[in-house]
Amino acid sequence: MESAEIRRRFLNFFAERGHTVVPSASLLLNDPTLLFVNAGMVPFKPYFLGEAVPPYKRATSVQKVVRTLDIEEVGKTTRHASFFQMCGNFSFGDYFKEGAIPFAWDLLTTSTHEGGYGFPEDKLWVTVYEDDDEAAGMWQELVGLPADRIQRRGMVDNFWSMGVPGPCGPCSEIYYDRGPDYGREGGPVADEDRYLEVWNLVFMQSIRGEGPGKEGFPILGDLPNKNIDTGLGLERMAAILQGVDNIYEIDTTRGILDRAAELSGTAYGTAEGSDVALRVVADHARTCAFLIGDGVIPGNEGRGYVLRRITRRVISKMRELGAHEPTMGELIDTAIAQMAPQYPELNDQHVRIRQVAVGEESAFLQTLRTGSAIFDTAVASVRTNGGSTLSGEQAFALHDTYGFPIDLTLELAAE
Ligand code: ALA
Repeated sequence: MESAEIRRRFLNFFAERGHTVVPSASLLLNDPTLLFVNAGMVPFKPYFLGEAVPPYKRATSVQKVVRTLDIEEVGKTTRHASFFQMCGNFSFGDYFKEGAIPFAWDLLTTSTHEGGYGFPEDKLWVTVYEDDDEAAGMWQELVGLPADRIQRRGMVDNFWSMGVPGPCGPCSEIYYDRGPDYGREGGPVADEDRYLEVWNLVFMQSIRGEGPGKEGFPILGDLPNKNIDTGLGLERMAAILQGVDNIYEIDTTRGILDRAAELSGTAYGTAEGSDVALRVVADHARTCAFLIGDGVIPGNEGRGYVLRRITRRVISKMRELGAHEPTMGELIDTAIAQMAPQYPELNDQHVRIRQVAVGEESAFLQTLRTGSAIFDTAVASVRTNGGSTLSGEQAFALHDTYGFPIDLTLELAAE
């Protein structure tokens, strides 16, 4: 099933059940706690907190999301992405667990002929928060899930917040068992590669305060209402329904990956190292197109720095793969061609997106020309002295004098 169809079915299913279809918000929302929108619920945060009155009780959306915390994992695992699309259904003080659980189950298990995603019921597992007997009971009573496919987990896995003070709540995650070829038996608590998380249902009912990590914060009290916030990763769903191993090989992203392979002259599937690089390019080129499209300009701090870093990673990886000419323009063209059917604003902004990306590429290639020679000299002098570590002073000089970014120095030094 094509990505566009997965998305269409999600929105239709919830529209038919009284949800207002809300278009994706920009990646840049005016929320001082976030650089980029990092979940489907972000645009609705004021409704959960009771700071604004929602114009609808039920909503559904496919939201553009950027997450860069795990950027080093992109391409190495089957499922990390810096940009992805989150399908969600939301209730603002309307239905709660008793509504969200059967909705999710129905959409997943209804046959593809009847508009669902056609998952076999016996391949689905769920987790619930450790003391959430109510949700565990509903999974059994409302949809008939056997008790031995319901597992309980603590705060780290089954309690969701935006990572900062704000709305939060216990969650229940739905997993798909990909079978014994992918890992051990025993459900999601045993192996999250074999059991792939497909949908997170958050029972948004509390407010959290400041504090580190996923459990080091206080719960300050209850939200004015009991709400629902869910997130189904479109790319992950596409990987399962298209029968590919990872999110970089699904219809839309694969197009960019193949173009990167063509432009660099390195075929996909020949070596692990170059495969990882091609996946990084496919992921990051798409992220660049969306970030520039939403108004980010490469720079040295904040959002601009994230964009700069992502663009430069594309360029470095393409060079590593064997590209000798600039490739950013072509990669951006391909990313836009793949994504514009769902996001027409990319077509409207095409010329500008391309110009910004290509401009950053020329500046970076110039930096690399001067910086690489200096980097090589620094490395040679370390080696001559029998060392294996580039000093902080040398790394600083590369940055300060030649504009050579520290993350690139780190990557090259590690190599
Ligand atoms: N907000 C929840 C998530 O991002 C659904 O996983």
